[in-house]
Amino acid sequence: MAILSEPEQHRDSRSINRRKFLAATTGLAAASILASSNATGATPAPGVMSPPHPAGPLALEGGTPVRSTMLHSKNPGPQYYDDEERREVLDVLESRSPFRWDRFDKPGLPPKTINFEKEFAAHQGTRYCVGVTSGTAALITALAGLGIGPGDEVILPAWTWYACYDAILVHGALPVFAEIDRSMDIDPTDIERHITPNTKVIMVVHIQGEPADLDAIMPIAKKHNLKVLEDCAQCVGASHRDRRVGSIGDVGIYSFQESKTITAGEGGAVVSSDPLIFERAVRFHDVGMLRNPGHGEMLGQPPRLKQTVGINLRMNEFTAGVMRAQVRKLDRILADQRDKQARVLARIADLPGITLRKKNVPTGGTGSRILIWTSGKEQCDRFIAAMKAENVNAGHSGGSALLPTVPHIEAKVGLEEGWPSFSTPAGKAMTYGAACCPKTLEIWDRYVELYMDPKYSDQDVNDIIAAVRKVYLGVMKG
Ligand SMILES: Cc1ncc(COP(=O)(O)O)c(C=O)c1O
Repeated sequence: MAILSEPEQHRDSRSINRRKFLAATTGLAAASILASSNATGATPAPGVMSPPHPAGPLALEGGTPVRSTMLHSKNPGPQYYDDEERREVLDVLESRSPFRWDRFDKPGLPPKTINFEKEFAAHQGTRYCVGVTSGTAALITALAGLGIGPGDEVILPAWTWYACYDAILVHGALPVFAEIDRSMDIDPTDIERHITPNTKVIMVVHIQGEPADLDAIMPIAKKHNLKVLEDCAQCVGASHRDRRVGSIGDVGIYSFQESKTITAGEGGAVVSSDPLIFERAVRFHDVGMLRNPGHGEMLGQPPRLKQTVGINLRMNEFTAGVMRAQVRKLDRILADQRDKQARVLARIADLPGITLRKKNVPTGGTGSRILIWTSGKEQCDRFIAAMKAENVNAGHSGGSALLPTVPHIEAKVGLEEGWPSFSTPAGKAMTYGAACCPKTLEIWDRYVELYMDPKYSDQDVNDIIAAVRKVYLGVMKG
């Protein structure tokens, strides 16, 4: 049974008549088709001729594939490695000072991690940044910065990465799942029903390159006096209107693991403009200390806390060096990725009834993916199989998990027996599983995902367009 209500229901491709489509495919009525269809996120290209889709049957049905070899996307960051990253790494090697605080005593050796932190904070538009070892470490550090512990509840989307759930659990707090909507980000209309007197944080995850609806979420947080943690691991560099994601909530986190927009293999960062959140985060990630010079200087005011319990999640100088070079390239990578995405979108926008991912902000996404809506799992699976047969890779949404249905999460397994997350009355009463996120499961079943590699050639882009057009017309007709 379909759970989604209008207008979220799939619009049947047959609702646009053939005469209109023929007009559209010759470039005459693309704009009016777009206006009358539910297509979102696509840039109409009035007057631009759509490429002819290859005649003949789908490759899945024995026809000739669009490409002779499979088109796979590569991770963006490493494709931009050049002398800049090489120099940064060599510099650390030759200095024999890979520890972030070591270089502070060595004249002529500018410390890299603190400079990375200053540069990334400036890029993202926050007062503070602390570099850490991974995005997971950043989430754990950010929650420490917010003072989260046993008895607290954190709302997070049902479709996101394990680290989001794990970080809450590590602090002994209770993860509370909210549904996503057709943007694949947390559904703002599903947040308030989960708020209890124990709720402290809304963990907003900007998923798969598209910012969540902060215009709707921030007022909810304000109304209920909640903190907002923005997880930008999958959205590094994206903007929400005129601000970078991560700088709008109380605290933001990023991952620099290899599949993210910029990378040193592993790495992460926490940003904030709140001095207390920053001081708590710094102390947590650096064995309870606030070192001066270094973070003490960055804080820019007398510390409010004393040395306390912390762990070690510090970034090292190799990672920081590579990340400094990558931050300098971030906007170029984003521009390349957005360009590929825009070119494909513009030339599939006229397909009859095509419905794309809902965008919460018209521009500002990373451009890393295109999502095409289908009528359900069966059609989605067939679409994916048909794209692969054309030698253009496609899949269901990737890079995250439908967390409430993962067996150990559904079983509420803690880090050990009697873990505080599940021993409070709310923790005991909590039920996960498919029943807590039916809308999320249905939405996930329906989207076909295509990755946009920022270095795709013109031929690659044309092949994607040709394959989508051919498969869409072949698969959606039935
Ligand atoms: C949304 C999200 N948050 C956090 C993380 C954790 O990042 P890392 O793998 O660097 O620990 C990821 C990683 O994929 C992620 O996708």
